[in-house]
Amino acid sequence: MRLLVCGGAGFIGSTFARRRLLEHGDEVTVLDKLTYAGREENFHGFSEHPGFRFVRGAIEDREAVAGAIETAAPQAIVNFAAETHVDRSIAEPDAFVSTHALGTYVLLDAARERELRYVQVSTDEVYGSIDEGTFTEQSPLAPSSPYSATKAGADLLVQSYFHTYGMPVSICRGSNNYGPNQYPEKLIPLMILNALHGDKLPVYGDGMQVRNWIHANDFAAAIGHVLEHGQAGEVYNAGGPDEETNITVIRRIIELTGASESQLEHVADRPGHDVRYSLSSEKVRALGWSPRVRFSEGLEQTVAWYRENTWWWEPIRSGEYRAYYERQYGRSLQP
Ligand code: NAD
Ligand code: TYD
Repeated sequence: MRLLVCGGAGFIGSTFARRRLLEHGDEVTVLDKLTYAGREENFHGFSEHPGFRFVRGAIEDREAVAGAIETAAPQAIVNFAAETHVDRSIAEPDAFVSTHALGTYVLLDAARERELRYVQVSTDEVYGSIDEGTFTEQSPLAPSSPYSATKAGADLLVQSYFHTYGMPVSICRGSNNYGPNQYPEKLIPLMILNALHGDKLPVYGDGMQVRNWIHANDFAAAIGHVLEHGQAGEVYNAGGPDEETNITVIRRIIELTGASESQLEHVADRPGHDVRYSLSSEKVRALGWSPRVRFSEGLEQTVAWYRENTWWWEPIRSGEYRAYYERQYGRSLQP
């Protein structure tokens, strides 16, 4: 297939692009704005592949989108492009609204004009928090943060293009991803790098919040299944095989890195913090997908990856991320 992968310089989009190029023999053009989270370093291992092209541009920019479509001549658009960190959405929601609402609209319109298949990558956070049981695709949307509310808005717009114009769109909603190449603002890479540097490990509130962890390779595979076998107008949830409390994850990272328990520090809770996410994946399993990586094994591999790939994270820890960390946590990182 020829694919236009929007947001393909980020964590999951680059994982997807790598798999499609190297394992499926697809041609992949990435359209990405290269925000703080988008990095050409994430093209490592496939940047020289003859089937790969990169176009720098924003999904809300009609001309950039038209240019990328001309370069890619795609049969499908897969949209990962997003602002993705809940804490940043609380501090500064602007970019979340423009990328998720306007950007998704511009992409949908471009896909409609050219009669392209369209897959929107979304999140379990659109369903809000669930104390017991698990969300299905029928669960009502009840997002809590500016991040999840704008993602939910984008999902509704995508569905309207099926209902109104009969466009072949599908949505794939994932649970919390982890793995190599994840920007260290997120729980797991933040804790790994802080643990390795002797920094404090900032636990929001009591640390008893639960997340449903999926390895990014498994989520990328689920998105591929939805692209190839998903029905138009349908939503597919892809949840990981394991749920853990944050404090359990952090303690396991302390063990795996040899850090000290004294690095643990309970800090003020996130405003409006969702207590638990849990996602049922029966519908995407029926398409032939199942997750391969259990959390205990995937976490160990992820810690090893961050240990070995200092070239990837050193420029981040000495750049924009350092200033972000000071704003968010009120303290500096170790040099
Ligand atoms: P990420 O923050 O690592 O990457 C996002 C990418 O989108 C970056 O390369 C960035 O430069 C690009 N981007 C942002 N705004 C853009 C714009 N306006 N135009 C073009 N490019 C733009 O995010 P991620 O973790 O890889 O998430 C990818 C997708 O998966 C998102 O849609 C997210 O909502 C969804 N998702 C993420 C998770 C998770 O746990 N990380 C879980 C479920 C779903
Ligand atoms: P995060 O990685 O931001 O993902 P999300 O909010 O999308 O689930 O956070 C995962 C969980 O970890 C969430 O319950 C918030 C918590 N957390 C901390 O306790 N400390 C931190 O420094 C961060 C970034 C997150």
